[in-house]
Amino acid sequence: MESAHILIGLSGSIAAFKIATLVSSLTKQGYEVRVIETKHAASFIGPLTLAALSHNEVYMDEFGGTNEAMIPHIELSRWADVFLIAPADANILAKAAHGLGDDLLSSTILAATCPMLAAPAMNVHMYENPATQANLQTLHERGWTIIDPAYGMLACQEAGKGRMAEPEELEKNIKAILENKTAANEAPAESSIDQKPLAGKRVVVSAGPTQEALDPVRFLSNHSSGKQGYAIAKAAHDLGAEATLVSGPVSLEAPEGVRVVPIVSALDLEKAMIEEAKDADFIIMAAAVADYRFKDHHEQKMKKTGDVLTLELVKNPDILAGLGQNKKPGQILCGFAMETENLDTNALVKLESKNCDLLIANNLRTKGAGFQTDTNVVSLLFPDHTEHLGLQSKEALGHTILKTMLALQKGEDPNVIVR
Ligand code: CTP
Repeated sequence: MESAHILIGLSGSIAAFKIATLVSSLTKQGYEVRVIETKHAASFIGPLTLAALSHNEVYMDEFGGTNEAMIPHIELSRWADVFLIAPADANILAKAAHGLGDDLLSSTILAATCPMLAAPAMNVHMYENPATQANLQTLHERGWTIIDPAYGMLACQEAGKGRMAEPEELEKNIKAILENKTAANEAPAESSIDQKPLAGKRVVVSAGPTQEALDPVRFLSNHSSGKQGYAIAKAAHDLGAEATLVSGPVSLEAPEGVRVVPIVSALDLEKAMIEEAKDADFIIMAAAVADYRFKDHHEQKMKKTGDVLTLELVKNPDILAGLGQNKKPGQILCGFAMETENLDTNALVKLESKNCDLLIANNLRTKGAGFQTDTNVVSLLFPDHTEHLGLQSKEALGHTILKTMLALQKGEDPNVIVR
């Protein structure tokens, strides 16, 4: 099997010396490692050291490399399976967040399509500066894995947060991304599902959009494909549960062994979920419910009249909140949140207001996440903390969600599953 390609970009920070240990360790384990250094990074650790440890030339310049036909930022970005920026100083984070490409490292970041990681390293005030925090939030929302710096005495003789994570921590994060990438390309191995940890459990999953009819011809709906809900139901069956899918109109085939209850509108969905929730162990609301329906439903096709048409909408019930209010003892409730901004803050409000045990939040704008894709990038929100997961297949995520819910039901530590 060809070994994974790891691209490491260094910007200017004293923490650059730690990258020698990382490169040496990864190379010894058989990974292909290539290194980009900014001019400032090269003042902290010379390219010769990193070239010797990676067994590859170190890239510093957009132009003037040994191979004149090579366009370094394009070739390197295509080559990489994963791209770690470490140390990431405030400047490179700002450039990445704002899409600047004025040197080799920033241009390669712009051109990269692989999973991205950054390990910030800087003075505590630079790290806490609202501009840096906003840039980190932007990158996180785009699906970057941010490896938090540690507290400690910094090189600038101030104590605080800003010390780059240790090489072992960086290596662990790179490997987690590479494993998720492999999982996204492969169905879960048979051996991982031959134990049936959910045997005897009833799992109810809602999936797909709802359609709110205006008349026999038209309706109000959304772009949900149902893929994530169907993947969870399949995972539930594979893990031994009795699985039921309450599904809005989608063009997916029902997973083998899963009972499907078809619904169209939010009111249909509410009725079906109340019925199915009665004896369910785990309830997962992955459906994209229309928040409003038309006030009037027309029995016949509405005819064109004036140039402007105003239609009145009324609010649909919040089904998840209703299930949260009427949770049975031992029942575990999982909601979803699809956001386009302020992901963690908005999702936390939903977790609490709807009385969920777990909430899966994703950002529609994150690459590899969202409605039509086979992969997802999500955060798992618990009442007391949040875990950010990297890119993975919707099916692999289904397994993680269900095993996490099982741990919550048993009162075990769910982080063992997630991490
Ligand atoms: N949900 C629900 N009933 C509704 C709306 C949403 O059960 N009428 C559920 C969804 O299935 C999902 C969670 O609530 O599990 C969050 O849905 P989302 O659309 O992200 O948020 P809303 O609560 O509708 O809030 P907003 O649209 O304002 O973001």
